[in-house]
Amino acid sequence: MIILVIILFVVLVSIFWQRWELGKFEVTHYTVPSAKIKSPLSVAVISDLHGFSYGEQNHKLLEETAKIKPKAIFIPGDLLVSKYPHTYRTVLETLTELVKIAPVYYSYGNHESRLREEECVNHELFEQYMQNVRALGVTVMGTETRSITLGENQVMLSALELELDYYEKGSIVPLEASYMREHLSLVDAEKFQILLAHNPAYAEHYAEWGADVTFCGHNHGGLVRIPGIGSLVSPQWTLFPKYDAGKFELKGRFVIVSRGLGTHTFHVRVFNRAELLAVEFVPQRRG
Ligand SMILES: [Fe+2]
Repeated sequence: MIILVIILFVVLVSIFWQRWELGKFEVTHYTVPSAKIKSPLSVAVISDLHGFSYGEQNHKLLEETAKIKPKAIFIPGDLLVSKYPHTYRTVLETLTELVKIAPVYYSYGNHESRLREEECVNHELFEQYMQNVRALGVTVMGTETRSITLGENQVMLSALELELDYYEKGSIVPLEASYMREHLSLVDAEKFQILLAHNPAYAEHYAEWGADVTFCGHNHGGLVRIPGIGSLVSPQWTLFPKYDAGKFELKGRFVIVSRGLGTHTFHVRVFNRAELLAVEFVPQRRG
């Protein structure tokens, strides 16, 4: 009997602790040095919101984003949960306020890509959602490159939408060596190149292609993080994903993987608080 009471107590404490943990996020600051940057500037990265709201109409997230004083807000996908249309409404409310803070650039995650398929049950609702998103002034990017102004800097911004095959559960489907060059041409290697690419499994490809900094999400920090080791499992059910969360330097280029702001299916975060990214680009002398 005592054992049963103890188990029940532990379960209840765990449930309350998870609810408390899932209601919080932190702001993680990163610095990205580059000789291609003329003057310092900050950007915000909101990844994998999955329709979460921190406070009434996401006011806590909006306030923390505004504090960064970002020149741009980058969204590398999964703002919503594909099967839950109520999350589309939450996202629209949040985007309505985000565009007042800074220009917003939104690229697709696997949830948006799934909804783009005509046979998807929520496809028409999604099309309506995207029309509303564009009407707000959000720049929606498929696989493409644009030249944008960030403060005094003219930079290149690219986005990559991977086919859904690359999100197969239980494995990491190899990306062909030529994939990046075939799908995205580098427009100006002299200019600072940013890439929004949802899936961090292909971090090496992004750096190799020429992205000075890539912003990824998708892994949600791995649901459960083991201190000193890292992420336990990815949303694709691969164990100990290599690019789970944080800043990685690959051949002098950076890949920053967000732990994301929301969850879906398994609402679990252990030692893995949700995060908003504040990234400062700073000039660096050419060596
Ligand atoms: Fe994802």
